[in-house]
Amino acid sequence: MTTIDLPLLPLGRGTDLSAERGVECPGDLPAASDPDLVARARAAKEALGERVFVLGHHYQRDEVIQFADVTGDSFKLARDAAGRPDAEFIVFCGVHFMAESADILTGPDQQVILPDLAAGCSMADMAALTQVEAAWEAMTAAGVADSVVPVTYMNSSADIKAFCGRNGGAVCTSSNAEVALEWAFEQKPDAKVFFLPDQHLGRNTAILKMGLTLDDCVVWNPHKPNGGLTDQELRDAKMILWKGHCSVHGRFSPEVVDELRATMPGVQILVHPECQHEVVLKADLVGSTEFIIKTIEAAPAGSSWAIGTEMNLVKRLANAHPDKQIAFLDKTVCYCSTMNRIDLPHLVWALESLVAGTVVNRIQVDPDTEHWAQVALQRMLDLPGKSHKD
Ligand code: 13P
Ligand code: SF4
Repeated sequence: MTTIDLPLLPLGRGTDLSAERGVECPGDLPAASDPDLVARARAAKEALGERVFVLGHHYQRDEVIQFADVTGDSFKLARDAAGRPDAEFIVFCGVHFMAESADILTGPDQQVILPDLAAGCSMADMAALTQVEAAWEAMTAAGVADSVVPVTYMNSSADIKAFCGRNGGAVCTSSNAEVALEWAFEQKPDAKVFFLPDQHLGRNTAILKMGLTLDDCVVWNPHKPNGGLTDQELRDAKMILWKGHCSVHGRFSPEVVDELRATMPGVQILVHPECQHEVVLKADLVGSTEFIIKTIEAAPAGSSWAIGTEMNLVKRLANAHPDKQIAFLDKTVCYCSTMNRIDLPHLVWALESLVAGTVVNRIQVDPDTEHWAQVALQRMLDLPGKSHKD
């Protein structure tokens, strides 16, 4: 697996408020051992009533999901937040970029709260705006920027979405990446796509859905001069992939798929497109989080599955479908550590603070970034056909 030389901030101890992770959570959290946490969360939610709307991403812990008014993937949750204009407070149990998207898609008087500010996303952190702007300048100098259409995965910070909005590009999700790439390639003669920040989703979609080849794809490494590419390589490429990856999905390996097929005869391998291309090539089915859930729900009793996505979701699916054999794809891969930052003590603290009249951990995107990120999001919403994860 590729690695990126990033200044890693210890979770919860950094001070960079603009980063996706590493911000110490202020406040007096209840002890995790407090036996009354469930009752306290329930009481606080009841006291807030319709004023609060709690969103839970599918990768959240069970202890948190039990208090979610709705669950979903990142895009569905953003839409759900937008569908509750009367809720004063949106408590987002997910990660930072999701809370930003909810803030962009909700009204100015609604306040979006992330119960732990250290719940960021390492993939989103792999593309900083200054790095992306430097890449764009290099593409301009190489004479290719005029034919490049930037497309960013939903799993990116608001300022990267805004960069795409400003430069004629769009946002995509893992279930509409194909439609978004089709759209992007139609925007200009000889168009190239600059795909951010997940190289795996970009490569998997380009090759498996768009009929491109590995030779059509180059990887822009922000830690190398000129991205590690020659101007000629930039001119020849159809897909310029940002060197980013998900630290959870990127860890599944093709070897483990072979091992599982040997030990679980008849097993079907179901993976998320954030997995490496070599893993996706060996899988039976590839799709977004919502696709994975629907596939398991529709699977016949007695069928056998190994799933390559976040462990909280796989465990929940296994518990919900005891008539099906459901395994986690890889023993060496663990939970998304930042998703797991949101736990019951943080949720209780956020809700009880609201009851006491204090808004904690508000996520607020500045107006200019919000405007351009909204432009890129709207281009996605306007895509023909299946333009979001249902
Ligand atoms: P979705 O929520 O869009 O399925 O993305 C997967 C993921 O990694 C979320 O962090
Ligand atoms: Fe980010 Fe991957 Fe965790 Fe999702 S699962 S929040 S993409 S690190």
